Amino acid sequence: MCGIVGYLGDREVVPLLIDSLRRLEYRGYDSAGVVVRSNGELKTIKAEGKLDRLAAKLEGCGLVGSYGLGHTRWATHGVPGERNAHPLSDGRGRLALIHNGIIENFLELKTRLRADGWEFASDTDTEVIANLVSSYLDGNLFEAVRKAVADLEGMYAFAVISGESDEAEIVAVRNGPPLVLGLGEGENFLASDPSALLAHTRDVVFLENGDIARLSPKKVAVWSQGETRVERPVVRLNWDPIQAEKGGFKHFMLKEIHDQPQAIQDTFAGRVDFESGSVGFDTLELSSTEIQAVRRIHLLACGTSWHAALVGKFLIEELAGIPVEVDYGSEYRYRRPLVAEGDLAVGISQSGETADTVSAMETARDRGARLLSICNVVGSQTTRMSDGVIYTHAGPEIGVASTKAFTSQLIALYLLALYLRQQVGREMKAELLDDLARLPAAVGEVLTRLDHYDELARRYAEAQDFLYLGRGINYPIALEGALKLKEISYIHAEGYPAGEMKHGPIALIDRHLPVVAIATGRRVFEKMRGNMQEVRARDGIVIALTDRDPEELTSVADEVLQVPRVSELLQPVVNVVPLQLFAYFTAVRRGTDVDQPRNLAKSVTVE
Ligand code: AGP
Ligand code: GLU
Repeated sequence: MCGIVGYLGDREVVPLLIDSLRRLEYRGYDSAGVVVRSNGELKTIKAEGKLDRLAAKLEGCGLVGSYGLGHTRWATHGVPGERNAHPLSDGRGRLALIHNGIIENFLELKTRLRADGWEFASDTDTEVIANLVSSYLDGNLFEAVRKAVADLEGMYAFAVISGESDEAEIVAVRNGPPLVLGLGEGENFLASDPSALLAHTRDVVFLENGDIARLSPKKVAVWSQGETRVERPVVRLNWDPIQAEKGGFKHFMLKEIHDQPQAIQDTFAGRVDFESGSVGFDTLELSSTEIQAVRRIHLLACGTSWHAALVGKFLIEELAGIPVEVDYGSEYRYRRPLVAEGDLAVGISQSGETADTVSAMETARDRGARLLSICNVVGSQTTRMSDGVIYTHAGPEIGVASTKAFTSQLIALYLLALYLRQQVGREMKAELLDDLARLPAAVGEVLTRLDHYDELARRYAEAQDFLYLGRGINYPIALEGALKLKEISYIHAEGYPAGEMKHGPIALIDRHLPVVAIATGRRVFEKMRGNMQEVRARDGIVIALTDRDPEELTSVADEVLQVPRVSELLQPVVNVVPLQLFAYFTAVRRGTDVDQPRNLAKSVTVE
């Protein structure tokens, strides 16, 4: 959730930490801070708010040092503010610590430490770790951390430096949230996410849960459970940092919306043989026999990825005839899901770090399911715990509101459904693949009509509430349209299956309520038209999205947005794009922080 970075080496440490933090700022952003070891002392500078505030504060204060740590925070314990910002020191000023995650038994530990005379200056759970480590510190930081970890409960990653040792040293722990080490020549790095390190090194080591690492400028060493010395593999990353730049767009989100035709293509590229009419994956790692044995699929995800899962259910059941259950990660692990032999659990996650999804996958695995991960981040948690992986090739997604990762997930799910269809011996019709090939162009066509969505946003940006309606495979798109609007414009919006409107939400309709109705496809078009009529009859405002001649809807809609027609199973991919754009332009008009909306974080690595 928050961002952790660390550096030891010969470079100027403060600018390097700030630069690395900038690449992590999307993870959390209510305050930030750095600590460096300078002339035998620990010097910490922190600031409330965005990283620029910290950078401004650091300018001119001449902070130089030989090694240090940096942090951007997404508060879980204690209000956002300088007092609670990391790095946090122990009550005796012997060390400084940065932390991502939650210490579940922090109150119990705090009481114990207080009784032993330790003082607390913040409201965070993090300070408990700082005092705890300090309470065990007797010249050997690694040993102190090892002892402290034995007392801690929860999911956390943290890194700590001491003001007392003469050698440059960082000790880091991973127990849940991700932590990656970057290896250099005479220098080493540490970060929550490899993207913070790409500008400096491409050789990284992903820490496993329970690992404690000891870093010096020349060496990194890792102990599993703090006990056994282990060699974790060095992974060479091939990400292009330029890809992560805004590419001339005003916001990452707008750039990422525009990346979609390419991302869609990249996701099916190399997996579809249009000539032989087949689908294959090189990282699936499940044999045909195993796939043929699949009796039921559990799709596990959160937020936007959960909406992709709802579409996925439709696709897999329709194309492969295998029953699918969809669960929120956060719900699955707290019920007693029935998992039988031959069940496959698929975790869908852009980041591959979402704690709820990871836990749900663990639950499914413990109950006997094989695990598959649909993920955008190479080497992330969900991919490493799974038997097989289908990567979405969307490239780095920086905007907190997910766009291209979502449409790429829909493609990955479509491919999975086709692959399963193939394996269960159903006929692979050529048009199922041809429809895919046409999709990038259709999405590209939507992107040529930006002025329509901007104009629509101009007319409705002042509305207080929105209702989004869809049916069948487009019901999840109604949910996703509403989520996008909520997340970035802060306008209250609800998505509903259109048929449910008369069972409750119809009471909301009056002349102030815009209703976005997704009316594409043959199966439910007439039903959707009926719903629009019901809204109009109650003075509501109808904004219709259709793949038909707009004339067919002018009698029941105030606004008609036309989208290109593709196959019914792929239409959701096209339909979501105008809704992303409408949310985007509405947010811009309302002056919100589009890429980093309030209270949200890109990767939710706490429960
Ligand atoms: C998307 O716009 C949201 N910010 C959020 O719902 C997100 O989809 C969710 O947190 C899941 O993230 P993941 O795909 O990285 O697991
Ligand atoms: N629990 C810590 C805090 O509230 C860290 C939060 C985080 O993981 O971002 O400061």
